[in-house]
Amino acid sequence: MMETMNEIEIVPSLLSVDFSCLRESINKIPSEINILHLDIMDGHFVNNITFGPFIVKQIRKLTDKMLDTHLMIENPEKYIDKFIEAGVDYLSFHYETTDNPKSLIDSIKKQDVKAGIVINPDTNVNVLTPYLEYVDYILIMSVYPGFAGQSFIKDSLDKISFLKEERKERKYKIEIDGGINDKTASMALNAGADWLVTGSYLFSHSSIKDAIKGLLNGK
Ligand code: DX5
Ligand code: ZN
Repeated sequence: MMETMNEIEIVPSLLSVDFSCLRESINKIPSEINILHLDIMDGHFVNNITFGPFIVKQIRKLTDKMLDTHLMIENPEKYIDKFIEAGVDYLSFHYETTDNPKSLIDSIKKQDVKAGIVINPDTNVNVLTPYLEYVDYILIMSVYPGFAGQSFIKDSLDKISFLKEERKERKYKIEIDGGINDKTASMALNAGADWLVTGSYLFSHSSIKDAIKGLLNGK
């Protein structure tokens, strides 16, 4: 099983790269980046459609970096095996999409993949409490899921602080996704985030390396 030991990870979201030259886009991502974020949208849970396991499998062939796959789909239980077969290392599903988060976490972990739960901006962080001892990571949405390039929702910082407090006896990583740029990154890191997902900020920058420096500056 692939797993990161680094404390802080910048996790580029491929939603903002040019898929017509995916290989080149991925090759431009510097070696200091260990994890790539894949946004899976079904047109039901969110108002956008991206790609499924078939494309994830192709991406798997293009990189040795770990793949963090963020499912924004209804009925995640129907599809997790397909994404695992496609070669993901980290797999997260939305709390809002299932009645039985614990059984999903178990099925993911049983297959030697790291399991995460995601919550939307309008979901109370307390709903996660029963699952904190089982998950490998929590993903806090700091925008409404569906699109890259939206503005950061500051309320998400309180959720990060709560999870950091709760973690004292537990081991999960805290990931944040949406609207992360050189200004919001330091707020997220100071609140306790371990992994920063970043799409439009990172890939619209003329130098990815400089953009990463910008993200880590405030720390
Ligand atoms: C939004 C996705 C994000 C998105 C982030 O639904 O989950 O991963 O790609 O993009 P930025 O960094 O542009 O907010
Ligand atoms: Zn995402």
